[in-house]
Amino acid sequence: MTVQSVTVGENVHLAELFADPYPTYAKLREKEPVCFVPAANRYLVTRHADIVQLERDPETFSANEAQSLMKRVMGHTMLRKDGAVHKRERVACEAALRPNVIRGHWMPVFQSIVDDLIDRMIEKGETADLFDSFAAPCASRALAALLGLTNVPWQNLAIWSQAMMDGTGNYGNDAEIWRRSDEAAAGVDAALDEMIPYLQKNPDNSIISAMLHAADPLNREEIAANVKVIIGGGLNEPRDAIGTAVAALLENPDQRAQAEADPAQWRNVFEETVRWVSPIGMYPRQTTKRVELGGTVLEEGARIGVVLASGNRDEAVFENAEKFDINREKKPHVAFGGGPHFCLGTWAARVQVGEVALPTLFRRLKGLRQGEGPVTWAGWVFRGPTSVPVAWTN
Ligand code: HEM
Repeated sequence: MTVQSVTVGENVHLAELFADPYPTYAKLREKEPVCFVPAANRYLVTRHADIVQLERDPETFSANEAQSLMKRVMGHTMLRKDGAVHKRERVACEAALRPNVIRGHWMPVFQSIVDDLIDRMIEKGETADLFDSFAAPCASRALAALLGLTNVPWQNLAIWSQAMMDGTGNYGNDAEIWRRSDEAAAGVDAALDEMIPYLQKNPDNSIISAMLHAADPLNREEIAANVKVIIGGGLNEPRDAIGTAVAALLENPDQRAQAEADPAQWRNVFEETVRWVSPIGMYPRQTTKRVELGGTVLEEGARIGVVLASGNRDEAVFENAEKFDINREKKPHVAFGGGPHFCLGTWAARVQVGEVALPTLFRRLKGLRQGEGPVTWAGWVFRGPTSVPVAWTN
């Protein structure tokens, strides 16, 4: 009998990554930190140092992936552009997302969304699934406001977001997935047809208004593509960060007590949450020339998966990385990426989740505790809890 040798990458299966990617990431970091994984059809980069090095060199590690399905679904968004063309579109959005605008204008908007959702939870009783009753609507309503898509029910935004993200991962060419992602994209286009003329005449602090009134304004096509990428990518991350933080604090009563006693700690809770379970677990890049990374030679055109979720659990940087610990030594995590595409919504997320949603939930839902049934988790490209049963006392 001949025993065939199986490479480290061939042993990686998407179903395992989806269920719990962390044991696989630990193996990859140890055995082959830049490893071709056939199931993902790309090299996964799993060590913190290699991720940081790659992000410092966007000319070699391009965001403009040739076979990107994101372009098929959304058009050519800033997330898949490099250099000056990327910068121009990014700068056009910035006015809406600066820390002073987030604190001065958007924080009270987030607070009223959060209070309204908690009022509804309290009215309905003393138990809920935090995912459906709070995290998902909170993230969706906040994003609709931030974008300036106030003509769209939050449920539509959530459905469109999921449909477009499914489209960007539709490597199996499933016709039904295309149908739904095309329908979602058409829904965004119709909503924009209504809002653009209004915001053109009535500028405000929203992202679409910023795009229209920037020093170098974006055209209709650029606005549509970038609104789609923000709906696809700016909704599930705050949602998942809320669910993850609540699950972690209910599991760690000492850390919860610390945050409740000292409001300054909520900032640490947020940063540790996105380090511990990074809402964007992996994003793609492609090499523009032959290059060596982490001991592996990558040919020009190699498809890369930058595994932020693994970098954030790298023991070379974070001691006891598997543990949720708001008191850990401050080290730079990579949950918001790095380099030119560093998350544009960082302050929106910090304030929405860390300064408004979490402190208000723990203050207003008296005796917040785990409800019946387990917290369930899913995903590796995006990861978060899919159910967080909670209970409180009215
Ligand atoms: C906890 C919440 C969030 C996390 C962890 C997160 C994470 C990230 C990451 C890792 C990237 C880089 C992706 C890449 O390079 O391929 C990114 C980019 C981006 N994020 Fe976020 N994000 C969050 C919330 C938001 C929100 C709320 C918004 C919008 C209001 C937003 C808007 C964007 C945009 C526009 C980009 C693209 C920036 C560019 O290409 O220059 N994000 N985000």
